[in-house]
Amino acid sequence: MTNFFENIPVRPRRSLLSVPAINVRALEKIRDLDCDGVILDLEDSVAPDVKGAARENLGRLFSDAPFVGREIIIRINPLSTPDGMEDLKLVLSCRPDAVLLPKVEQPADIHDVADLLAEADAPQGLKIWAMIETPLGVLNAASIADAAHTPDGRLAAFVLGLNDLRKETRVPSVPGRTYLVPWMMQVVLAARAYGLDVIDSVSNDFRDIAAFGTECEQGHAMGFDGKMLIHPAQIEPANRHFGPVEAAVAEARAIIDAFAKPESVELNVINMNGRMIERLHVSQAERLVAMADIIAQRKAQKT
Ligand code: COA
Ligand code: MG
Repeated sequence: MTNFFENIPVRPRRSLLSVPAINVRALEKIRDLDCDGVILDLEDSVAPDVKGAARENLGRLFSDAPFVGREIIIRINPLSTPDGMEDLKLVLSCRPDAVLLPKVEQPADIHDVADLLAEADAPQGLKIWAMIETPLGVLNAASIADAAHTPDGRLAAFVLGLNDLRKETRVPSVPGRTYLVPWMMQVVLAARAYGLDVIDSVSNDFRDIAAFGTECEQGHAMGFDGKMLIHPAQIEPANRHFGPVEAAVAEARAIIDAFAKPESVELNVINMNGRMIERLHVSQAERLVAMADIIAQRKAQKT
């Protein structure tokens, strides 16, 4: 498939909708939804007896028209299971943007898949994403992220999975995710230390959009790039809360312009309306503007 984002340095990952690969009706909808990415799930949302049928659905989906302007990720079963190997074969033939590995707990989980992809001559654009959703996964987040530094460097993002983590740790689900926050921040820090994107966990209560908005705000404030979603109703609020807001984009453009002025060439700090702006803020501003431009470009393509 054509990779829309191949030559684009930043990728919006505000909203990543999980779609059970067994649900044909839901699969039919994804081309019309305004999410940044779709996670086609062969793992937890597909019952063991219908995994084969789910793979067939995805085979058919990829043989239709190409997906334009969004990332397509396939979540596979663990490679230690027979389904995992079958799923990986499907990934190699469908060539999505990324394969999402469940319950990653150690660097070898990444290296094994990277080796299999390299052996199969998978295109370099086919990335690996890792679910961090077990106590060991959180504890080893930094060494797993370090696996990004393999020669073919396929690891691109972490996706936090709090449903599994709550189950394993017996931490109850409460608004504000109070006692999970330290672990969540550990995953964010590990991802950033090694240049990965990091996606916040799903919210199960898809009818409570107000609570969902609050959780998006929290995830954004914690540094996550976006959120894994389970229902189309969650797309708009996720795009809004994780997206660059207009005022921030305008400020970013002002920062870029201010440092581009001839009188700023030799300055590393400037005064912008009573606030100190450092040259280091320029790359941050450029990233934000690039993100806003990509989102606007995608919107224009659709209309
Ligand atoms: N992707 C695409 N479309 C979806 C969707 C999804 N994840 N979830 C719901 N829809 C569609 C439904 O097909 C339905 O369409 P229709 O009106 O044409 O029939 C519409 O949105 C409204 O759905 P609704 O009736 O509100 O919910 P539901 O009972 O059909 O589905 C869930 C609820 C939770 C079962 C479903 O949203 C789902 O399976 N989500 C993903 C779960 C998942 O991937 N889990 C693994 C990761 S944690
Ligand atoms: Mg899980």
